Amino acid sequence: MSEQTEYQAESYLPEPAERPCVLVVFGGAGALAQRKLAPALYNLAQDRLLPRAFALLGVARTARTDREYRGILRAAIHEHSRRPPRTDLLERLLGAVHYQALRPGQRADWTALAERLREIDARHGTAGCRLLYLATPPQAYAGILAGLHGCGLADKDAGQSATRIVIEKPFGTDRPSAAELNRRLAGWLDEEAIYRIDHFLGKETVQNLLVFRFSNAIFEPLLSNRHVHDVQITVAEDAGVGERGNYYDTTGALRDMVQNHLLQLLCLVAMDPPQGMDLPCVRAQKVKVLRAIASLTAEEAARQVVRGQYKAGEAMNGYRDEPGVAADSQTETFVALRLDVRNARWAGVPFYLRTGKRLARRVSQIVVTFKREKPLLFSPEHCDWRSPNRLIFRLQPAGGISIAFDAKAPGPRLLLRPVRMDFDYERSFDVPGPEAYERLLLDALKGQMCLFAGAHEVDESWRIVDSIRAAWEQPGTCPLREYPCGSWGPYQAAAIFTDQETSWQTT
Ligand code: BG6
Repeated sequence: MSEQTEYQAESYLPEPAERPCVLVVFGGAGALAQRKLAPALYNLAQDRLLPRAFALLGVARTARTDREYRGILRAAIHEHSRRPPRTDLLERLLGAVHYQALRPGQRADWTALAERLREIDARHGTAGCRLLYLATPPQAYAGILAGLHGCGLADKDAGQSATRIVIEKPFGTDRPSAAELNRRLAGWLDEEAIYRIDHFLGKETVQNLLVFRFSNAIFEPLLSNRHVHDVQITVAEDAGVGERGNYYDTTGALRDMVQNHLLQLLCLVAMDPPQGMDLPCVRAQKVKVLRAIASLTAEEAARQVVRGQYKAGEAMNGYRDEPGVAADSQTETFVALRLDVRNARWAGVPFYLRTGKRLARRVSQIVVTFKREKPLLFSPEHCDWRSPNRLIFRLQPAGGISIAFDAKAPGPRLLLRPVRMDFDYERSFDVPGPEAYERLLLDALKGQMCLFAGAHEVDESWRIVDSIRAAWEQPGTCPLREYPCGSWGPYQAAAIFTDQETSWQTT
């Protein structure tokens, strides 16, 4: 970008949440709470965006005092906050932090939880308003929801309109369990109170997809089968499963990443313009995209899906050596797949999705590759290089957008070379954006649902994912491929392309 626009930092600050609130985090001492939620809350507190009347109640099985729990969060915030915490602000926030031990099967523990919340309301002026956050593995949701309902904390008939619930992904473990979860929730809470979180939707670069597409008239007309050759969505991580082996080994990359993050990205890049940017309009367009993707038959899955697992590399554990992972685990840590969006705009354009752990580098991007012009003027005889035009949405790290095109190399010969025009978030805006969880927690506190997934999106995503899982259960279909740590996944992932010209883009 040659010109930079200067913005005042204040112009980015949103309005604070006003409604009093106790944030009740189930899984309150878990990895998500420590790495993401607590640092996000601290940063919201530093920006003065939390409600004046606010408290946090961490809930987990282990017995702990408030003091011990505050110590855990203090250390977590120091380690994971995007800004070094200021002691005075951090201690003020921790003063509003409490802890309650709870065994989900014990009725008495739920009664004690309800009582504790009444005490907290009295102490912090939170007036019975609760944001219940399920930050546990999905297998625990049913027990927690039953307990919440049993003690009257989630019950619309009992006038619990002041209660909202945030549910982490994956929402369920398959289509039937997600439907059951939706059914239960719908019996106890209004849809407007249910926040299905997909933290990718809280990323600035992901929110920018719709702005870029629908606010810039020069690009949108190009995004269809008339001009696009293929779309690639990559979410690659260099890290392994780390300490999350227990959760991951029963989940795998398809359910952990594809069912939610990657399919949401696909929706945002493929959807038709909504009539408005309000919740029903945006959700309706996303659902239309998912409905245009057919479930895969076993034969299609065999051709269109590759699953892999990382094996030990130099000084790196193989997946099966990771803590919490079964020694003979068949869980996939990598998936590559091809999907077709069968509607007027996209029919014939393959969408390639890939995600994995312990890959060569951490990068999330969407690459739209355009069809090549027929080489009438600049044929290979005159130029030694032709490359297709590409639009690259760089989601992380170093978010931005690039356009790849050919330019004449300086000199007397007609030589074409691929070049790139880059927009870079950091260089163009002088303010670091908030972390995804900051934005999503703030929205949930304020009652804004636009960046949360709807029941139908979740249902349709599971339909697609379940069809792939069903194919995997048939022996011989989509065998699990090994790949070395630090590679781009199993080499077989290149076999899903529909033509020889296509290759995985890692720019
Ligand atoms: C989570 C997955 O939803 O997203 C993790 O459960 C993954 O396995 C993480 O590592 C990636 O998120 P981010 O924001 O770090 O790219």
